[in-house]
Parts: sequence; C-alpha cells; structure tokens
Amino acid sequence: MERTELRLWRQREALFALRKAIEMHFGTSLRLVQAYIYDFRRFSRHSGLRGTNTQREIESRILKEFHRIEKGLTLKEPRSWFGRETVEITVQLCEQYRQRSDADLQLVDAAYTALRQYGQHFQEDAPEWWTHQAVIVEGWLEGRHVDPNCEGGFRSRSSEISGSDSSGLALSNFMRSRSSTRNFSSEIVPNTILRCAIDDAKRSPSVCNRQGTRIRLYSRGPETDKILKLQNGNRGFGNDASHIAIISADLSTFLIVGERNQGFVDAGMFAMTFQYSLHAQNVGTCSLNWSVGPRQDRRLHILAGIPDEEVVIMMVAVGYPETDSLVTNSPSRSIEQIDLSDVPLMTEGAFL
Ligand SMILES: Cc1cc2nc3c(=O)[nH]c(=O)nc-3n(C[C@H](O)[C@H](O)[C@H](O)COP(=O)(O)O)c2cc1C
Repeated sequence: MERTELRLWRQREALFALRKAIEMHFGTSLRLVQAYIYDFRRFSRHSGLRGTNTQREIESRILKEFHRIEKGLTLKEPRSWFGRETVEITVQLCEQYRQRSDADLQLVDAAYTALRQYGQHFQEDAPEWWTHQAVIVEGWLEGRHVDPNCEGGFRSRSSEISGSDSSGLALSNFMRSRSSTRNFSSEIVPNTILRCAIDDAKRSPSVCNRQGTRIRLYSRGPETDKILKLQNGNRGFGNDASHIAIISADLSTFLIVGERNQGFVDAGMFAMTFQYSLHAQNVGTCSLNWSVGPRQDRRLHILAGIPDEEVVIMMVAVGYPETDSLVTNSPSRSIEQIDLSDVPLMTEGAFL
C-alpha cells in the first residue's frame, strides 16, 4: 500500500472509530436529532410556509380566511362590517384560484356563500369597499347551483341537536362503553359502514376548518400484513382485523411555523371520531401507534405509496369483535389527578 493510500485508510478508520464513539456516548441524543431533522425537512419542504402557491396551499389559505368571517358572524356581537382585509383577501384568493384548471369550484362556492351571508348580516349601510367585493361575490353566485352541503356561513345551533339519543347521559354512557378490540372475528366490515365512519370523522374539528387529515384503508390480506409488520403493537390480532387504517396529515394544509404540530392534533381528533362512529355501528377498533424513527417511517411511506408531504400519525385496526371476547380494564386515572384546576369541580355534576 502506498503512503498516501495508507494515510487515507487511517483517516477513514479514525473517522469511523470517532463516529462509533459518538454513537455509543450520544446514541439516543443523536437519533433524536436525526428524527427532528427528518421532521423538520418534511415540514419545511411541504407545508405552506414558503408560499409556493400549490393547489392545496391556496385552498388552505381560502379556508383559513373565509372561516375567520364565518367565525366572526357567530359571535355574540360582531362588529359591523368587521374584517375588511380578510374579506378582500378571500375574494382575491378565490378569484385567483378559480382560474386554475385544478380548482375545486365548490370551495369558491363555500367562500362566496359565506361572504353573501356576511353581506346580508348587518343593519348599518354597507361601506364602499364591500360594494366592490359584493359585485364579485354575486357575479359568481348568480345562476350557479350551489350544493347545500357546500355552503359556507352559519346556521342556528337548534337545528343541530335533535332526538333523545344526543342527550349528554346517553353519549356519556356510549363513550364509556368503548374499549380497544384485540380479538376480531373473520367477518369483513362493509364499505358502507367504513364510509359512514369517515364521513363522521371528517366533521371533527380542525384548525380553521383546514381538514388536513387523510385516511387510507387496507382490507385484510398479504399486502396489509406487510404494513402491519412495520408496526410494533399489533402482534396476535392485527392480521385478523377486517381493515387497517393509516391516518396521516397533509402538511401542505399548514401555513405557519406555529402549525408544525397541528397535524397531530387534528388527526388525533379525527381518529377518535372515526373510532366512535365505528363503535356506534358495533364495529371494534384498536388504535395502533406510529411511534417510529425516520427509517421505519420511510419504509411505510414507500410500501403504502404515501407521498412525502403527508406525515403518518397512527393506524387503526378495524373489525367486528369476536363474540364473548375479552377487553382490558385499562383503569383510568382519577379526575383529581387529571383536573388540576385551582378550584376543584363539585362531584355532584351531571355525569361525574
Ligand atoms: C395513539 C395510540 C396508539 C396506540 N397504540 C397501540 C398499539 O400499538 N397496540 C395496542 O394494542 N394498543 C394501542 N393503543 C391502545 C391503548 O393501549 C388503549 O387505548 C389504552 O390502553 C386504553 O384502553 P381502551 O382503549 O380499551 O380504553 C394505542 C392507543 C393510542 C391512543
């Protein structure tokens, strides 16, 4: 071996030894940093932070802006003709957006019907600036058939709550009757039920109604088993589930640094509603963690064909429980351990 080659070889060996030593001493911290870099890279690349004007980014901006108007209108005493800037931005974004070939025009319908209600809401005469916006809004809505499900704006709360089933007590009992299912029968859950559960779940609250949560369902079989192999908490029951759901958050729907963790919150709420809806239809579920490092996460993205802009939040095993199967007690902590309010709540409350 020549001298230069020998020197290079020694340098490489020294670097390798140094890396090993660092890994041994700081292994966990290093992996943590790597995981944060992995998350950082994905969020900074795919969220709406940089204003790249992708379809979904503009949609998220429109949703965010007109939802501000909707929200404002439901307040006790909204200031007359509040939010001029928000209204103008909404109209500007919608006008830009509707020119795109990939535009979802129902989103424009939603924004403009919300603005129409805004325009009809106040006693005081409309200011000059609104008259200009109203021409654009009405110009769009005129002669257009808007699907009632797509209308933005507000409605009366009384039309939402009906029937004795929605009484607090019934709901409370219902929630307490759910347990994670880890013993599934061979029966397949029909698509109609799964669809209904997604339909319920998509009504879960999300930041500014951004609705960034996505779900993918996989029915039982060898392909799904490959996915389950990557998850560490389903051994002994996952393969028997009728379906496995992967719940993810589309980062392009989040627009500011402060929203970097919002996907986890919104998808968590979505996942809960999804599971309650299935529970209401006698279908069992078990949440499955996706608490993994970058390597495992990459594997799942590739295997399931999940695009890089989506962050996987969790999975859910879905299926009919086997008759007479067991569930864990999973004792819950006392209210006193959880409620740390300065003034403890009285125990005679409605459902305590
Ligand atoms: C995000 C999340 C991930 C979970 N991951 C798993 C899992 O991988 N395997 C499992 O058997 N249970 C999992 N669970 C279920 C919990 O163990 C269970 O919800 C908890 O013990 C309470 O029991 P219960 O759901 O029967 O009320 C998970 C729950 C959540 C919320």
